[in-house]
Amino acid sequence: MKAVFVLSLSIIILRAKAWSSVKNPFELMVPPIKIHPISDCMHVTTEEGDFVFKKIPHLGRAENEKEMNMVDVENPMTVCGLYVVGQPDKLVEITIKHLDVNCESGGLMAFVDGWELNGHYFPGVKDHHRSLNNRVSEFCNDHSHWPVMSYKKTFRSSQNAALLQYRIPIRGSFIANVHFRTIPEPCNIMVEDVSSYYTLRNYGRRGNCTLTALFPAVVSLVSINVGGKPESEKVDYECDSMEDRLDVGGTGGLDSYDMERSTYICGHTKKPGPEQAIFCGITSVRLMSSGKYHNEAVLLVRQADENDLELASLICPL
Ligand SMILES: *[C@@H]1O[C@H](CO)[C@@H](O)[C@H](O)[C@H]1NC(C)=O
Repeated sequence: MKAVFVLSLSIIILRAKAWSSVKNPFELMVPPIKIHPISDCMHVTTEEGDFVFKKIPHLGRAENEKEMNMVDVENPMTVCGLYVVGQPDKLVEITIKHLDVNCESGGLMAFVDGWELNGHYFPGVKDHHRSLNNRVSEFCNDHSHWPVMSYKKTFRSSQNAALLQYRIPIRGSFIANVHFRTIPEPCNIMVEDVSSYYTLRNYGRRGNCTLTALFPAVVSLVSINVGGKPESEKVDYECDSMEDRLDVGGTGGLDSYDMERSTYICGHTKKPGPEQAIFCGITSVRLMSSGKYHNEAVLLVRQADENDLELASLICPL
């Protein structure tokens, strides 16, 4: 009975594909899930859908040289990742729909609340409200335990960036569904566009909120209200309160807690500030808040190129 149902459903889907000009009445009710094969070891996505990975062992000798090189280069213990980034006000929800990653043969997967690159994390380890242990959840299929549990698990990130890491030495596969959900009060934001406006807010809370771009960027202030000052014509670059301020700067690695700073800004104005270029691998803007004020800063961030060198306010060593 079930098989017949699946069959007729797949026929409907096939027909819908074949007659793409004919409106499918089911389309409104159940939007189709997009399938994305994972092709690169570092696979970056801004899309929702099912991400599919499958590794089958290479048997016999490689047919051509290109394939042989690939086999040689590939280290079985390599850790790869699906790097997901959504709109600034979204969190990432990842549901593992299928898992065949065997613990005994060295297979392992991990969901990371944020991104990890070369041992550095976004948001920075000291900036996150969760400890690193709680931000990383490891899992695999353990066939030594009985009964073998069917694996269906859902993870959620605290900001618009999340990472699904995997290490599959010999063979294995997984299907992970990526879905974005709205967060009412986003704090840390990963820049997902090469040119866009972003708002940093503390919602009256104490702590740091960081906006991070994974490229050298030109940053300019659109408006600012930091430190509870009366509105004026200009921004303050000599902030008397060190606790409430906006820092602009950069780093080589993902963690911007100890970033090199080019400027710190506070005050209250709607007058746009000048552009400044940060020539570092990672550009960050940090809003620091004592919790005494409702701080807010609107920024324009765009990717920097060689024409922006004269705007440089910080150049990181390579
Ligand atoms: C915010 O970050 C700065 C360093 O960038 C740090 O000195 C400060 O303690 C942090 N504040 C909080 C509340 O975590």
